[in-house]
Amino acid sequence: MKRLRNCLNTEDFRLAAGRRLPSPLYHYIEGGSDDEVTSGQNTSAYEKYKFIPRQANGVESISLKSKVLGMDLDWPLILSPTGMSKLFHPDGEIGVAIAAKKSGIAYSLSTMATTSIESIAAAISGPKVFQLYLFKDDELNFEILDRCKAAGFDAVCLTVDTAIAGNRERDVRTGLTIPPKLSLRSFLEFAFKPQWCLNYLRGGKFSLPNISQDKTGDLSVLANYFAENMESQITWSKVDRIATYWGGPFAVKGLQSIEDVKASKASGASAVIISNHGGRQLDSVPSSFELIADIADATGDTIEIIQDGGIRRGSHIVKSFAMGAKACMTGRPYLYALSAFGGDGVESILESLRMETEKVVGLLGCSNINEVNREHLRYANKLPYYLSEASPAPLNTKIRRT
Ligand SMILES: Cc1cc2nc3c(=O)[nH]c(=O)nc-3n(C[C@H](O)[C@H](O)[C@H](O)COP(=O)(O)O)c2cc1C
Repeated sequence: MKRLRNCLNTEDFRLAAGRRLPSPLYHYIEGGSDDEVTSGQNTSAYEKYKFIPRQANGVESISLKSKVLGMDLDWPLILSPTGMSKLFHPDGEIGVAIAAKKSGIAYSLSTMATTSIESIAAAISGPKVFQLYLFKDDELNFEILDRCKAAGFDAVCLTVDTAIAGNRERDVRTGLTIPPKLSLRSFLEFAFKPQWCLNYLRGGKFSLPNISQDKTGDLSVLANYFAENMESQITWSKVDRIATYWGGPFAVKGLQSIEDVKASKASGASAVIISNHGGRQLDSVPSSFELIADIADATGDTIEIIQDGGIRRGSHIVKSFAMGAKACMTGRPYLYALSAFGGDGVESILESLRMETEKVVGLLGCSNINEVNREHLRYANKLPYYLSEASPAPLNTKIRRT
């Protein structure tokens, strides 16, 4: 069993989570939709670009500070909203939020969280975002936004890429139910993870306190509740209504096209989160990293770009920044750490990612992450100059061009 001190990077935490969680829950975190092409490429696409460092710049100190959605961050990461954290460890959302606050970054609380808006506000004074899933009933949407205002949340993000549930075959194969129910099929999976079972029982009754209990009724029929109550016909005018009612920093999460980014701006968003939901919704879309440059070039400084998905190393954050993102978001890495070691694990993985980010910025010859730009990146498949169309081969070379 891996100890916390032996976990140095995201991959170490992923392996530790795999050992500690019952397999249906591990696969729930890890899985993507269909063939999981996008979920893998969200990370592998970063290797399509290589760094070109600059030397002898006399770097003395390194600043990673960033400001996004009106929030001052010590380094440019926001923890992505993820539902039901107490399923993975009793420290749940509060353990994660405290770790984010200690690291000087922002936490996003999901509509589907197992901790209330008010409990998060009581636990941390640091930057916090509420993630809203749109309900058909505007009264319910506005009630949630009122609670966020009263609790002092800094910003709201509206997720728009889940009107239809992605096809996640791992969950079908493992027979996952939420909350977990013991069937003959899942019994052994849970029986081999007694520590998780004890923790789960310690965690108390499973609930989703950001959705009024009287409206959810019996949570064991959650799927039916969502089919009946979530808005499946999201339109820009509905987005506009939410942005206007909230009236503060507002982001739309789950965008990939330049047109949608422009529509978000017109609907009142101050930021967009370029995201494919970690490859859990529509498969075979480009990695979110690869979309940053075109969107940044098309929108200039008119809207803040936040990139979400695939980040496993500090170098990934720096590459997204170089392309034009103002901040990044990450989901699975902190869930691995939470599942394996609770809030202490989240603190540890955040420190690894922060340290890696700082080292990369310094090694690129920059003293501020804002100095990193596309000149520090080279497309990995770029032909060397002597093979490119533009270059006449020098007469004294023996290179044959085909
Ligand atoms: C277990 C799990 C639960 C999630 N729940 C939510 C959610 O409630 N709301 C939401 O907007 N996104 C949700 N997401 C998507 C994340 O916010 C984020 O887009 C994704 O995890 C980013 O990819 P990454 O895991 O590679 O960082 C969830 C992702 C995972 C893995």
